[in-house]
Amino acid sequence: MSLKNLISFDEIAESNPNFLDIDYEPGWEAVFGNTNPLNLEVGFGVGNFLIEMAIREPDENFIGMDFYHKGIRKVITRIGRYQVSNIRIVYGDAKEKLPILFNEAELSRVYINFPDPWPKKKHHKRRLIKPAFIKNLAAKLKPGGEIHIATDYEPYAIEILEFFEAEPLLTNKSGYRTFLAQKEGTPQTKYEKKFINSGEKIFYLEFVKQ
Ligand SMILES: C[S@@+](CC[C@H](N)C(=O)[O-])C[C@H]1O[C@@H](n2cnc3c(N)ncnc32)[C@H](O)[C@@H]1O
Repeated sequence: MSLKNLISFDEIAESNPNFLDIDYEPGWEAVFGNTNPLNLEVGFGVGNFLIEMAIREPDENFIGMDFYHKGIRKVITRIGRYQVSNIRIVYGDAKEKLPILFNEAELSRVYINFPDPWPKKKHHKRRLIKPAFIKNLAAKLKPGGEIHIATDYEPYAIEILEFFEAEPLLTNKSGYRTFLAQKEGTPQTKYEKKFINSGEKIFYLEFVKQ
């Protein structure tokens, strides 16, 4: 898609009903106009996973959260083009927005696909997946709700596994200290396609709330 065909970020922020730059729980049933299950993708990038999931599952609602302007412009343009009615985009840093945009036990599934690995030791503090963030995720999930994560970076995968397994509200679906044997048929993200094409191993993880 050429960039000139995209609407501008300012235009989106001012007037697009599928885009929310908010600091409160907006009443998601009213936002979507139904009581369908609520799913969240954190860090959707250019959004192909989010759009494909929403098309595949029209009776579920999908919220994408990111602060990458170019990606937001692409997704909003595609939502309009494909006339997808079950996606909303929320702007911002998930560390700040997750605690304030959702009520406790409101989310059915959360997807985090290829979170930035920040491989240098001095940058580890920038990683998204930390114990405090996981505690928040667990609180926002319904009982039986799921968190799906994928990463190509083994040291981060191991850290994620350890942090999640230390959270008492969550259980590793593949069994203690193991990654998923295979991915469960969800669409491929842009990064996932890239890593698969270059033959890299991908670590998939799934946790369930008690
Ligand atoms: C490596 S990219 C992966 C994009 C996409 N999920 C994929 O697999 O193709 C990481 C994405 O997470 C977003 N991101 C990073 N930190 C974030 C945060 N704290 N809150 C929300 N989004 C974040 C980035 O803007 C970027 O779009």
